[in-house]
Amino acid sequence: MAQLNHNLLSNFRPPGFPGSYFLSFEGIEGAGKSTQIIKVKEHLETQGFRVLVLREPGGTSFGEKLRSAILNTTTKLHPLAEAHLFASSRAQLLTEVVMPELNTPGTVIICDRYIDSSMAYQGIARDLGIGPILEIHQNFPLNLVPHLTLYLRIDLETSMKRQKLRNAPKDYFEAQGESFYQDLIKGYDRAAELFPERIRTIDASADFDKVNHLVIKEVDRLILQEKPLEDA
Ligand SMILES: Nc1ncnc2c1ncn2[C@@H]1O[C@H](COP(=O)(O)OP(=O)(O)O)[C@@H](O)[C@H]1O
Ligand SMILES: [Mg+2]
Repeated sequence: MAQLNHNLLSNFRPPGFPGSYFLSFEGIEGAGKSTQIIKVKEHLETQGFRVLVLREPGGTSFGEKLRSAILNTTTKLHPLAEAHLFASSRAQLLTEVVMPELNTPGTVIICDRYIDSSMAYQGIARDLGIGPILEIHQNFPLNLVPHLTLYLRIDLETSMKRQKLRNAPKDYFEAQGESFYQDLIKGYDRAAELFPERIRTIDASADFDKVNHLVIKEVDRLILQEKPLEDA
């Protein structure tokens, strides 16, 4: 794979809205993103935050159209076409929802998947390379990234076991073979290596309560550390 130009990493920053936070959850199918997000939402609400959960792709009426175009397609898309479709949905979500909502102090936006999924899916599993994904996201507002990303890491066997339990029909990506999932894990691992400040990797093969404890600890750490100091 081509050498990554590390200048591409320096352009990313979280949106600057005091008192509001932008979080994302990442990981392969069955990692526990949806179930953990529900608990984190409850936890933050009891602390007085207004919490909005968004899914990617989607979250806007335009994004939902792109979502079904991508996930229900019967033809194989070129990885660059996929990458641009996701980025297009993301740019719209940022403009239409994320930034205006974060403008109200005390808001938390939680995204179920974000830029790291593009790195894992199109960048590594679809073999486009991480560089092109980072390039697509260099300009505002796509260079805005979460304050904190929880990467729920599970292995392939755990994913397959949990997907079987869930027994839902498979979409475009879920219908891929096992080597695709192995590549996704490699992709998320690579993203976590490239963005160590933002991404916390959590062993999500543990039982639900243990994973939840680790997740809440990271969320609390972010929020407490960023709270302005009380007057002495
Ligand atoms: N830590 C866990 N241990 C066992 N099962 C889990 C755990 N976390 C989630 N699950 C179960 O695994 C399935 C997939 O979880 P889900 O939250 O839908 O994952 P994702 O949104 O990442 O695909 C669900 O049936 C859920 O109840
Ligand atoms: Mg889910």
